[in-house]
Amino acid sequence: MSKIKKNQAVPKGKWSGRFAQGIDPLALRFTQSISFDRRLYRQDIVGSLAHAKMLKKVGILTSAGHRKIQRGLTAILNEIEAGRFPFQEELEDIHRNIETSLISRIGAAGGKLHTARSRNDQVALDLRLYCREEAGRLLGAVADIETVLLGKARQFLGVVMPGYTHLQRAQPVLFSHHLLAYVEMFERDRARVRDAWGRLNILPLGSGALAGTTFPLDREFVARELGFDDVSHNSLDAVSDRDFAIELAAVGSIVMMHLSRLSEELILWSSTEFDFIKLPESFCTGSSMMPQKMNPDVPELVRGKTGRVFGHLTALLTLMKGLPLAYNKDLQEDKEAVFDLFDTVNSSLRVMTALLEGIRPNVPKMAAAAGDGFLVATDLADWLVKTGLDFRSAHEATARIVRHALETGKDLRDLSLADLKKFSPRFTAEVFRALDLKVAVNNRRVTGGTATANVLKEIKRLEKRLAPLSIQKKRP
Ligand code: ARG
Repeated sequence: MSKIKKNQAVPKGKWSGRFAQGIDPLALRFTQSISFDRRLYRQDIVGSLAHAKMLKKVGILTSAGHRKIQRGLTAILNEIEAGRFPFQEELEDIHRNIETSLISRIGAAGGKLHTARSRNDQVALDLRLYCREEAGRLLGAVADIETVLLGKARQFLGVVMPGYTHLQRAQPVLFSHHLLAYVEMFERDRARVRDAWGRLNILPLGSGALAGTTFPLDREFVARELGFDDVSHNSLDAVSDRDFAIELAAVGSIVMMHLSRLSEELILWSSTEFDFIKLPESFCTGSSMMPQKMNPDVPELVRGKTGRVFGHLTALLTLMKGLPLAYNKDLQEDKEAVFDLFDTVNSSLRVMTALLEGIRPNVPKMAAAAGDGFLVATDLADWLVKTGLDFRSAHEATARIVRHALETGKDLRDLSLADLKKFSPRFTAEVFRALDLKVAVNNRRVTGGTATANVLKEIKRLEKRLAPLSIQKKRP
């Protein structure tokens, strides 16, 4: 961290002329945010450029002054990106670091940039710009994982596996149907981001410290410059609201919750006990002691990091709950939570997308698990109902058949027609067709059901929704 040379407005270590003393080093270390909010440098500069352009438009800056500010800010941007900018802890945060550097470069013209602005509306703007980018990144990353899941659903259409309730084998389903369940979850996540966008994409700048400003700003101009849909309509709210970030953090948390459920299933399915899928070896790790091990570290860590993301969401909510209007320094604590939250969600999505590309279902194992046991018991009961029996009685007759089969060590399909007739005179040889696994799957033709034709229809519907996104993505 180096010194500021010429035109330094405030003596180093002292906040302003209001202060007789410099800040205590402990207090400085404790209150600074430059160590983490430097990450907002681009948003801060982009915001300042738009503010300066507007100040010129309304006559507060001259063209020459505006040009100087533009050049100064651009030079600072380049320096930061080249890793050559001397960030200073004693300048507390990214806003003062950039402003002080601008003044040291261009003198008094730089001092005009902060006209009609406070760090309170400035940081609110920076965070909104940041969250906007994160919202875009999240939409893309979620679309990517959906695309891979859809690809797998298409590739393995027809593979039957047991569906579970209470983690007990329940009814046969298509592996693709199971994968599409996650696509549905992620589709809702994308819809949540789009919905949050309307409340996120609002310009807070122009709110000043808390009460607005005495200068005749053109806030709509700044909003247009920065691509905001509207300007905020209450300055107190605009400088102290962080619910735009919390909403997005909640969406991120829901995405993680979905990823974590998927991770849990991948971990279970890749265990020897299930042996339903093979994870790509390149995404697994070995054990330092047990040579036979291949551990599903990636999904385990995603599941683990989900807790960390929920923690950030809780931190943000708790941060806000006791704050009086308007700005309070507590708000500085929002940043690390927001940064780490989105970094974690994005890296989790990316690594899971790559891992999913390489999964291979163990088709015979899945089919055997689905064929074993009594997964078609409902189909037997349904068959009786279709002969005119009421469902309760059909359920009871089937339950007794299951018990009989269990007691005699047989599978439902091993029972003879004569065996079945002992439980209901309605049975005919036709019933055995209903007990076939594929028939059982394909009989569930109701919209949303696991029948192959349905699942294919859903795959096509989802492909249509996602295809434009993948084309967009491929553009540079
Ligand atoms: N570093 C501060 C933050 O992140 C910027 C705003 C500071 N405003 C103030 N009045 N101290 O919240």
